[in-house]
Amino acid sequence: MKKVLDTNTADAFASSWNNLPTGSVYTFEQFEDWFAPLKQTDIQSKSVLELGCGNGSLLTHMTQWNPSTITGVDLGDSVLSCKKNMNLTNFENFQVLQHDLTSFESDGYDLVYSIGVLHHLKKPKEGFDALIKNTKNGGRFHGWVYAKEGNKLIIYTVEPIRKIASKLPWWLTKYFIATPLAIPFYGYGKLIKTIPFLKKIKTNLPLYDYMIWIGERGFSFFRHVAFDQLVTPQTTYLSKNEILAWLGSNHSINQESTYIIFRNGNSWKFGGKKV
Ligand SMILES: C[S@@+](CC[C@H](N)C(=O)[O-])C[C@H]1O[C@@H](n2cnc3c(N)ncnc32)[C@H](O)[C@@H]1O
Repeated sequence: MKKVLDTNTADAFASSWNNLPTGSVYTFEQFEDWFAPLKQTDIQSKSVLELGCGNGSLLTHMTQWNPSTITGVDLGDSVLSCKKNMNLTNFENFQVLQHDLTSFESDGYDLVYSIGVLHHLKKPKEGFDALIKNTKNGGRFHGWVYAKEGNKLIIYTVEPIRKIASKLPWWLTKYFIATPLAIPFYGYGKLIKTIPFLKKIKTNLPLYDYMIWIGERGFSFFRHVAFDQLVTPQTTYLSKNEILAWLGSNHSINQESTYIIFRNGNSWKFGGKKV
């Protein structure tokens, strides 16, 4: 059967990534938070592969953890801005490849990760399988996806807008939909972040933990996140049980090593080691 590629999704993201200023969109603290429980000592001198690397916003920070090699794979033209951003670091031992991640084959890496990608694939489980397939025996894999849990508000309000916005020219979506929506999003985030009293009623406030996380950042990051949500033609919100089933179904995973962590009340981090 002919494989259906996620080309439309990758093209949509390239319009996002290739129209940003150079450098990472994330702070180093955000990078560390995305990888915890992994830390520098787990990665130092190891070979690293990112599946769905975008403009290299994570890979550029990854250079500071001194891996032996870095490989980024993305299906879209964002590989252009990824190469540009990686060239601005002092790290030389890297390659950026334009390839579909689900069919990407290698001899294996010490760490394979995919952050913010699997939930945009037509078949997220194929992305998970690619994570495991490209991890060396004894190596680690790590992922982050949107959760079904904690995202009810987004699923009922943002998702219907995304289904229309993702069909429009990217600039229309960015400047005429994402930008106006980012204004109340930013206002809410800053309100939650700056008024300590709100902590007392946090269970009544939608996306409280997420707002505490994103409330650190400026308006352009809020707009980037809003645009990222709206530009993609494909999004799946994944439940804990689905991820547990993925982890449990693969016999090459060391089951003792696995973890699944609820992050910011609306996403899952998961990972483990290969036998
Ligand atoms: C939300 S971005 C995340 C980028 C990066 N991981 C980050 O956190 O900044 C999702 C990326 O996955 C890529 N992507 C989507 N489907 C893909 C596929 N089948 N193969 C490779 N890359 C894919 C998109 O092109 C896009 O750059």
